[in-house]
Amino acid sequence: MPYPYVLLSAAVSLDGYLDDTGPDRLLLSSPADFDRVDEVRASVDAILIGAGTIRADNPRLLVNSPARRAARTADGRPEYPLKVTVTASGDLDPAAKFWHTGGEKLVYTTDEGCERAARALGGTADVVSLGPGLDWRALLEHLHDVRGVRRLMVEGGGTVHTQLLQQGLADEVQLVLAPLFVGDPAAPRLFGPGAYQGGRLRLTETRRIEDVVLMHYEPTAPGTGPEPVAADRHWLRTACELAALCPPSRTAFSVGAVVVAADGAELARGHSREGGDAVVHAEEAALAKIDPADPRLPGATVYSSLEPCTRRASRPAPCAELILRAGVRRVVTAWREPDTFVTAADGTGVLQSAGVAAVVLPEYEALAKEPNAHLLP
Ligand SMILES: NC(=O)c1ccc[n+]([C@@H]2O[C@H](COP(=O)([O-])OP(=O)(O)OC[C@H]3O[C@@H](n4cnc5c(N)ncnc54)[C@H](OP(=O)(O)O)[C@@H]3O)[C@@H](O)[C@H]2O)c1
Ligand SMILES: [Zn+2]
Repeated sequence: MPYPYVLLSAAVSLDGYLDDTGPDRLLLSSPADFDRVDEVRASVDAILIGAGTIRADNPRLLVNSPARRAARTADGRPEYPLKVTVTASGDLDPAAKFWHTGGEKLVYTTDEGCERAARALGGTADVVSLGPGLDWRALLEHLHDVRGVRRLMVEGGGTVHTQLLQQGLADEVQLVLAPLFVGDPAAPRLFGPGAYQGGRLRLTETRRIEDVVLMHYEPTAPGTGPEPVAADRHWLRTACELAALCPPSRTAFSVGAVVVAADGAELARGHSREGGDAVVHAEEAALAKIDPADPRLPGATVYSSLEPCTRRASRPAPCAELILRAGVRRVVTAWREPDTFVTAADGTGVLQSAGVAAVVLPEYEALAKEPNAHLLP
């Protein structure tokens, strides 16, 4: 289930367009910003664009700086990131620069587009069909597991950006706002209509670069069911990092927890043995800071580095029980409880039997275990 870190990168006009409708690509960024994009490209394992952008812009998608390419090679990475595109139709021009510059190329398509794409390209790129439809989760899993991609930069166009953001698969948006107007309603927009995840994104950086502004955003709204979204990973990481605040113990785990509303607002956080209470658990500490009548609790997600406990001697109610009493219906954890202090704890199973979406993301297990290394075999 691990995916690459997905970074969406785009430049838009003041009225929110990605391009105009003319035959040439509209230059929205400034020279210094193109150099920044080159730096981001040099930092990733793969760059993805939709087939529409290949047809409209005929881009090369290279790392242009020889010094950055040399640094990649010195690190044991390929000189250029893998170039990836997606197409349902298989309508790919074999003469496009995308295929004849840079390093390896990979096409994701459907059963229907597969033959046409393979015939058009004649071996210049690997062509992978993802079945009858193109499922983005399957694509990200394939990139991660089969191609070893850990960081993916997505450079558009709007069709691709919109799907990744709406499906909760973007870890970060790097957006450049350019001081000009397009004014043509037929021009492509960055984000199209449809259902976006709730709430506000978190603004993590702003930078002036000549006459454009760069903004970095992170989605914050938790997923709504058993499928994890990118924001779930961010919050779970926060929970794991909170465990570092726990006073050390030889008789209990160090755990961190965060409770997040459906719109991405943090309701509370906690960690084991917080505030001088030698036996308090992380989820218990966090939930105690929230008014039990808070109407956001039933839509909230509890993130905990260790799955909630189901039995405990130190308090009348274990954390799984406290979560159910609070009315929370979704829990995301990194680590199933080992038999160190109790046997067969199974907090995840207990919550699932009660109808809670209890999700485990084992790719964070190592991080959750870090502050507990002294308790583990
Ligand atoms: N300013 C910027 O930062 C920036 C960046 C990139 C692009 N752009 C502009 O964006 C415009 C192109 O945008 P766009 O939205 O038309 O193109 P796009 O997102 O690059 O590509 C859309 C195409 O990708 C394929 N695709 C997308 N989602 C798919 C799915 N779920 N399953 C299968 N195939 C899928 C389809 O290809 P097939 O049609 O082959 O099936 C679809 O037509 C151009 O004008 C370009 O200049 C601007
Ligand atoms: Zn507990």
